[in-house]
Amino acid sequence: MVKPDGVRRGLVGEVISRLERKGLTLEKIRMLAVDEALARRHYAEHVDKAFFPDLLEFITSGPVVAMQWSGESAIAVARTLMGATDPKQAAPGTIRADYGLAVTQNLVHGSDSPESAARELEIFFG
Ligand code: RTP
Ligand code: MG
Repeated sequence: MVKPDGVRRGLVGEVISRLERKGLTLEKIRMLAVDEALARRHYAEHVDKAFFPDLLEFITSGPVVAMQWSGESAIAVARTLMGATDPKQAAPGTIRADYGLAVTQNLVHGSDSPESAARELEIFFG
C-alpha cells in the first residue's frame, strides 16, 4: 500500500515502478480512503500500542493506494524494497530511506506473511 503521505507527495508511480522493475507483477490496484473502522481492522495487531493514535490519524488523513502484487518471494522482496519501518534506519536505496524521515509517515505498507497478505487482501479487495 502507498500510504497517505506517499499519495500526497506524488510517489505512487515511483513505488509501482520500483516493484515492477524488480520483476514483481501488479495484479490489483485500488485508491480509497481508510476510515477509522477500516484502520482498526487493517492494523488490528497494533490497536493497543502507544503509537496507534498517531498511526490512526495518519492513515485516515487522505487516500491510500492498495495493491496486490505477485511474484517469487513477493512478500520478502517487497519488504526489502520498502526498507526498515523507521526510514532513518532503512538501508539506502530502499523506498523508506530514499523518501522518508519519520517513523509514522513512512510511505508504504507491506504485508509481512502469507497469512497477513490473505487477511489484508480480503479487507481491501473482498
Ligand atoms: P507496515 O505494517 O506499515 O508495513 O510497517 P512495518 O511492518 O514495517 O511496521 P509495523 O511494526 O507493522 O508498524 C505499522 C506502522 O505503524 C507505524 N509505527 N509507528 N511511532 C512508532 O514507534 C511507530 N511504530 C510503527 C508505522 O507507520 C508503521 O509502518
Ligand atoms: Mg507491519
